[in-house]
Amino acid sequence: MFMHSLTLFAPEIPSKGKSKSRKIKGSPFFSQSFSLAPIGKMQSTIRNTGRRFLDQSSPLYSVKSIYPLTSSGYGLDQSRYVSNIPVKGSGHIVRKGTGGRSSVSGIVATVFGATGFLGRYVVQKLAKMGTQVLVPFRGSEDSHRHLKLMGDLGQIVPMKYNPRDESSIKAVMAKSNVVINLIGREYETRNYSFEEVNHGMAEQLALIAKEHGGIMRFVQMSCLGASPSSPSRMLRAKAAAEESVLREFPMATIMKPGTLIGTEDRILNTWARFAKSYGFLPLIGNGSTKIQPVYVIDVASAIMASLKDDGSSMGKTYELGGPQVMTLHELAEIMFDMIREWPRYVKVPFPIAKAIASPRDFLLKKVPFPLPNPQIFNLDQINALTEDAVISPNALTFQDLDIVPNELKGYPVEFLICYRKGGPNFGTTVSEKLKSSEL
Ligand SMILES: NC(=O)c1ccc[n+]([C@@H]2O[C@H](COP(=O)([O-])OP(=O)(O)OC[C@H]3O[C@@H](n4cnc5c(N)ncnc54)[C@H](OP(=O)(O)O)[C@@H]3O)[C@@H](O)[C@H]2O)c1
Repeated sequence: MFMHSLTLFAPEIPSKGKSKSRKIKGSPFFSQSFSLAPIGKMQSTIRNTGRRFLDQSSPLYSVKSIYPLTSSGYGLDQSRYVSNIPVKGSGHIVRKGTGGRSSVSGIVATVFGATGFLGRYVVQKLAKMGTQVLVPFRGSEDSHRHLKLMGDLGQIVPMKYNPRDESSIKAVMAKSNVVINLIGREYETRNYSFEEVNHGMAEQLALIAKEHGGIMRFVQMSCLGASPSSPSRMLRAKAAAEESVLREFPMATIMKPGTLIGTEDRILNTWARFAKSYGFLPLIGNGSTKIQPVYVIDVASAIMASLKDDGSSMGKTYELGGPQVMTLHELAEIMFDMIREWPRYVKVPFPIAKAIASPRDFLLKKVPFPLPNPQIFNLDQINALTEDAVISPNALTFQDLDIVPNELKGYPVEFLICYRKGGPNFGTTVSEKLKSSEL
């Protein structure tokens, strides 16, 4: 609208190229003569004129933030990404309403990694209690659009950022009092190493949160099994991130969930797709590794519980595993049961699995084009599976956050019915067997 009116009132737009000048009669808005420059050039001139105008207009720039927003393309100079969330100073929390979606929880949370699997559940729970959620995103506009619907109008604020540009991170954190870091990746790409994504970014966020001064809670998402001695590079990077985050921000809360299960998960969906396509499932390491998979919504609830408590979760590490320890084979049985396919396995010993997965890692930085992302045969995950990933004996768990995690068998895996031969409604679903009060 602003740009539009600017266009209408633009008196004479200077243009180097050939242009015609003419008057439009009949409208007072068009009473001045203006030049018909080539459209591309005209648009860029208008953009520049608009930016100059914005630079002079003090009301927009009088928005105070802890960090001066830079002109690097992510701050106030791009009015498109500017939010008008009121700035809350350190420790100053305003709460209004009854605690529902249209209330004001007083939390302004920046959720890094909100565009991922866990992110959607975290954002949904934050929005449901009336929290303003800033969603930094780096990809296309589509990556966050499902999140916008989760809150009232203006509650969910997507902001473009670049994880390698410190000033853009400061811009997305400037107005928040809570930071949640869900950034993580279980495979390397040509652009990003395990260490940069899983450790470097977490450390940088913690450092900026410390400098910010107004961040009251910092939640760092790690992984069950993360340890400096892990055979997996990702898990070693996650362990290093835990250490760095606690060093920079000692009051941070670290969450270490087991394998996440839910509608968009990357284990049961991948297995089901593979089993449907090839008629069998490869069981890496004979499927004997013990894991403690957890329902994604329980992990999101744990994050909420840690934000809402009296500060007792600050500076602590929680290991979040589901109620059952199971082997990979047992989890695969649950998947086959739900998709109603006869379970057929090919047991793949670790050395053979590693041999199948190695070429991608070997070629990743050697070929001049991106390679497909690994699915079942991911070398680093195969290395991780050589050790059990279960909750350690004295760890803080869901119980310490007053949460009872869901059993996996049943509703949490019911999304797998979409893989059934004959369609999702072929055969009875678990929720049909349960009473509505149990759902
Ligand atoms: N999924 C599991 O089974 C599991 C288990 C234990 C712990 N965790 C941890 O829980 C957290 C969330 O997991 P998830 O399953 O939701 O992960 P996910 O779906 O892969 O999402 C990861 C998020 O991190 C962002 N991200 C990845 N690489 C990035 C990069 N180079 N620069 C900036 N952002 C980047 C992604 O942004 P884009 O959308 O732009 O790529 C996305 O928002 C992660 O830290 C993960 O390690 C997951």
